[in-house]
Amino acid sequence: MANRRPIVGGNWKMNLHHDEAAALTEQLAKSIDGSTDSVDVFICPAFPYLHKVYGVLKDSHSQIKLAAQDFYHQPNGAFTGEVSLSMLKDVGVGVVLVGHSERRHVIGEGDVLVNNKVLAALDANMDVVLCIGEKLEQREAGQTNAINAAQLAYGLAGVSAEQLEKVTIAYEPVWAIGTGKTATPEDAQAAHSFIRGVVTGMYNFEAGEAIRIQYGGSVKGSNAAELFTQPDIDGGLIGGASLKVDDFTTIIKAAAAVPV
Ligand code: PGA
Repeated sequence: MANRRPIVGGNWKMNLHHDEAAALTEQLAKSIDGSTDSVDVFICPAFPYLHKVYGVLKDSHSQIKLAAQDFYHQPNGAFTGEVSLSMLKDVGVGVVLVGHSERRHVIGEGDVLVNNKVLAALDANMDVVLCIGEKLEQREAGQTNAINAAQLAYGLAGVSAEQLEKVTIAYEPVWAIGTGKTATPEDAQAAHSFIRGVVTGMYNFEAGEAIRIQYGGSVKGSNAAELFTQPDIDGGLIGGASLKVDDFTTIIKAAAAVPV
């Protein structure tokens, strides 16, 4: 297996207020102690609390990276309600999610916008987590691989092999997100292996081996280890369980324990 460092992210979505966000960050920084020696960890608070959480991470001397759940790809201007990459950089953000399924399927983001965001974030030298994954009806219709291949082709259009080094893929089957239904380790591994093959085909063997692919969708402390020990699963993107310090710590430690 290639020597890929695992990566675990906590996507807080539209949850937690100021004091809760600060307290969770402080507790997490303490509870994962030295785990960040062997796993990359990022957390994605809601926009209003990014600055506060950045301060808590700094005060705790934590290696946890600050990430944003979304942004707009234009540098500035008349885009009411939107937040730019330079604004995010200003408050300490170094990692951005792009194309999360809730953005795609609840808010209505399409592939072109997702691609614009990927390109803008890479231009801004941010680390990018590109989220892809099929809906239940697509899986049942046997379209899982086709959907993942298409979302990769659109999402990564115009991304050079060099820029790809700053990209992580999050495979998140939509039917598994927030539902308590996790893909079996075998189904997740099959999708991850397919995704790695697509990246290899789009770039080259080295790029396919090097790219990190997180699994997301109802990852918990109790199922993290069996998922993360699959050969093509390089950690996870965690929603609900990232709001609980004990669960999220167990998940991070499960990733840190996987031999690379
Ligand atoms: P979940 O969310 O862990 O609550 O299923 C995962 C995600 O949306 O990234």
